[in-house]
Amino acid sequence: MSEPSATSNDHRTRPSARPWWKDALVYQVYVRSFADSNGDGVGDLAGIRSRLDHIASLGVEAIWLNPCYPSPQHDHGYDVANYFDIHDEYGTLDDFDALLADARDLGIKILMDLVPSHCSIEHRWFIAALASDPNSPERARFYFRDGKGDAGNEPPNNWQSAFGGPAWTRLDTDPTANNGKGGQWYLHTFAREQPDLDHTHADVNQLFDEIFKFWFDRGVEGFRVDAVAGTGKHPDLPDQPPVGPEVGVLDITWMNEYTVFRPEGHDVWRRFRTTIDNYESSHPDRELMMVAEAYAVRRPELVKAFTEPDQFHQMFSFDLMLTPWEKHSIERAMLDPIAILAETGVPPAWTLNNHDIQRIVTRLGRADAHLPEVWTNNNLALSRADVDLALGERRARAMTALIFALPGSLYLYQGEELGLPEVFDIPANRREDPVFERTGGAEIGRDGCRVPMPWTNDASSSYGFSTPRADGTVGEPWLPQPAEWGERSVSEIDDIENSTLHMYRSLGEVRDEFAVSQPLEAQTIDIGPEVVAVRRGELVVVVNPTDQPVQLDLDHPEMAITQPVFASEPAEMHTTGVIPANSTIWFSS
Ligand code: NOJ
Repeated sequence: MSEPSATSNDHRTRPSARPWWKDALVYQVYVRSFADSNGDGVGDLAGIRSRLDHIASLGVEAIWLNPCYPSPQHDHGYDVANYFDIHDEYGTLDDFDALLADARDLGIKILMDLVPSHCSIEHRWFIAALASDPNSPERARFYFRDGKGDAGNEPPNNWQSAFGGPAWTRLDTDPTANNGKGGQWYLHTFAREQPDLDHTHADVNQLFDEIFKFWFDRGVEGFRVDAVAGTGKHPDLPDQPPVGPEVGVLDITWMNEYTVFRPEGHDVWRRFRTTIDNYESSHPDRELMMVAEAYAVRRPELVKAFTEPDQFHQMFSFDLMLTPWEKHSIERAMLDPIAILAETGVPPAWTLNNHDIQRIVTRLGRADAHLPEVWTNNNLALSRADVDLALGERRARAMTALIFALPGSLYLYQGEELGLPEVFDIPANRREDPVFERTGGAEIGRDGCRVPMPWTNDASSSYGFSTPRADGTVGEPWLPQPAEWGERSVSEIDDIENSTLHMYRSLGEVRDEFAVSQPLEAQTIDIGPEVVAVRRGELVVVVNPTDQPVQLDLDHPEMAITQPVFASEPAEMHTTGVIPANSTIWFSS
């Protein structure tokens, strides 16, 4: 294993007892859409390697790779066919090792995406289950049940899939007559190609032990753990109470008390934590971690339960991601996770974007983005109000400048550093998200935040996303890119003073200088009725979420020793205490 080089990102002045992951800057790579090294229109690991300098330039300490295991890609890798290899479109295990080594040379760690709740219909266990009898051991690793009714024609219960439609799919046939009940049904919380695993089964426990060991041995430092809300189930799988017509198709699953935030899930996380702790105790030079993905916004009791010392090291806070651009909403979204940190010592993993959510530039540019009631826990049923992208980008920059100052780790999603907006102009026949198909097009799904990255203004190489093949051609990118991608590309905005890309790089630097060295705590301070103001040790960060400049009282005791050290709109940064509309300024002594 190579040692970090002199140019590495391993240089932070973090208090020495603090593990790196508690306040790391992490960059999420959606492998399919980051960089395509072989011209087939699909991103791959060698492509990521070729663009590591870009990631390093942001001051990033770790990369989280979305699932890159072999998969038929029905949910783009969240349907895992084999947890111990690399998907062939993305490369090989050798490519993975090479990526990890190059990243390590830059002081960047690799986190994988672990998908425990379900696997793929192409996983060998599911294939074996289909070929076996209804009551066979092969079926016991999943949730196979007979249907209701004499002929078993009705699903075993009324649960709905998170992607729309029933959470059960029936087999056309079964190897035996099954007492006249016909083909059995299997449970899938997500798409029908993602059968749920039963974590009360010893084989499933053992599989995940082996997965952790396999990737830790290769040098991976941790895992983002997928869909932890829905992993445990009530053992009897009872019908969920009826819901009214006002409940949208994508909300029903999340209201199902028999499969969401179940106590049974916590047994799984305790086992995982024991596995990680055991590995770490025999590798004292490693600081391993797992971070939980679940939408527990405004539910501190859930966050605390998931981050008990014997479970997750951290949990994502999606509070600020889903918050309207309004003072009180922003304060609450920030203070809830900070209060948990003060109580438990577990810092949140903040994020403003990911591969499931409309990009923040679009969300904050909506005509109703400032209305408190626009807040929603449903990541897909968002406002349809008109979008002002310039305003959205300005607000997104201000929100980003806030989040970089907060205690905790910070997960960036590829492309947010370019200020990329959501892409809506994707023809129906090019849409790939199973949400689109399963809701009959009623929900457009998540393709719009997954469009391949623009690196250059060269349309003939899909804006630098694809490296041409030997004959000079490139395949169509797997999702179409809009024409404006060229002017939004890395190389174009790198030439623009004060571009969002420059802002992210500067934020990484000031975060290291003024925030990471501070204790893991923060408080809001009252320095005026319009602004959100946060103190973190010597650092004071002020957000103006209004459409008017706000004059601060520089004689206010909280402002006494402070100088501006960073502004989300640098051209307007000055020392008079004016915070420009929709912007953020950092002050320090
Ligand atoms: C959450 C992931 O982020 C999302 O992309 C995926 O579709 C579901 N979990 C199911 O695995």
